[in-house]
Amino acid sequence: MRIGVLTGGGDCPGLNAAIRAIVLCAQNSGDQIVGFHHGWRGVAQGDGAILSEADTKGIMQTGGTILRTALFHPDKHEGGTEAVLATFERERLDAFVVIGGDGTLGAALKLSQRGVPLVGIAKTIDHDVSGTHRCIGFDTAVATAAEAIDRVQTTGESHDRLMVVEVMGRTSGWLAVCAGLAAGANALCLPEIPVDLDRLAKAIAQRHDSGSTSSVVVVAEGAQLGQSNGRSAGSIVADGLQKRTGYDTRLTVLGHIQRGGPPIPSDRLLASNCGVAAMQAVRSGAFATLVDADDTTTDLVPLNFVALGPRPVPAELLAIARELTVQ
Ligand code: F6P
Repeated sequence: MRIGVLTGGGDCPGLNAAIRAIVLCAQNSGDQIVGFHHGWRGVAQGDGAILSEADTKGIMQTGGTILRTALFHPDKHEGGTEAVLATFERERLDAFVVIGGDGTLGAALKLSQRGVPLVGIAKTIDHDVSGTHRCIGFDTAVATAAEAIDRVQTTGESHDRLMVVEVMGRTSGWLAVCAGLAAGANALCLPEIPVDLDRLAKAIAQRHDSGSTSSVVVVAEGAQLGQSNGRSAGSIVADGLQKRTGYDTRLTVLGHIQRGGPPIPSDRLLASNCGVAAMQAVRSGAFATLVDADDTTTDLVPLNFVALGPRPVPAELLAIARELTVQ
């Protein structure tokens, strides 16, 4: 078989480990992998090259994606879908393995409805692809953000400051909740729960009245804060709390640091497992599916799960956050 592989949307740690697993599997079964550059854009432009084992040497532990990535939805560009179909024919492909978040996989779903055989793998530090339990890149982003929050916390302690840390997460608070809980943050501002700055300021003041001299507030970039007037969620919370409490306050925006760097072992294992599972699905003709994997287990779910929109943070996790933090 000739199988096209692409990575689309925002990058994350672990993409290369998935690509490596796919190439090694193909080598075992005598299949050929065509790696397309810059996601669906590269497919539409016919920009791809054969990937061999040599291309995968040493990439397991590297961040980013050797295939590069782009935000490109064929159906949103005139002639985009036809260009993808033409590449599929011209390259004599039998299937695609598509590694992406909801945007890239949403485009994959539309193509599969046009008859393109494909299997999806979920990746995103937002951790919110419906139908899956885990997304490649999330564990590393949690580890990176939690370590950064730990560091912010110690300097905050030294200066008796209120420290606000903004993490990624436009529509979902997975990263804010998990990194915040792992780092022992005192308060969380999430997209899932409307933020009441008056209540938050009161709770922080109470902590300080009972002996604490410093607090850490973790804010998801998509926190529910009402009108933003172009300001970041972190700056609204930092300014709002400083005004209300009078505490010396500092803001740290973690930004793309959370998407870069080497994947931690659990992401390497998850990505390897996803790559193997996707290739097994391709070999058995289980198309229009999405890999739902863990370190050791795999399942295939219908790809149309991605049409459900972001996978919400479960009530159980929010309940833990309610016990341990203020929101
Ligand atoms: O990968 C998802 C995500 O990290 C979001 O949480 C964030 O809003 C977005 O990507 C930023 O993407 P970029 O700046 O690369 O367009």
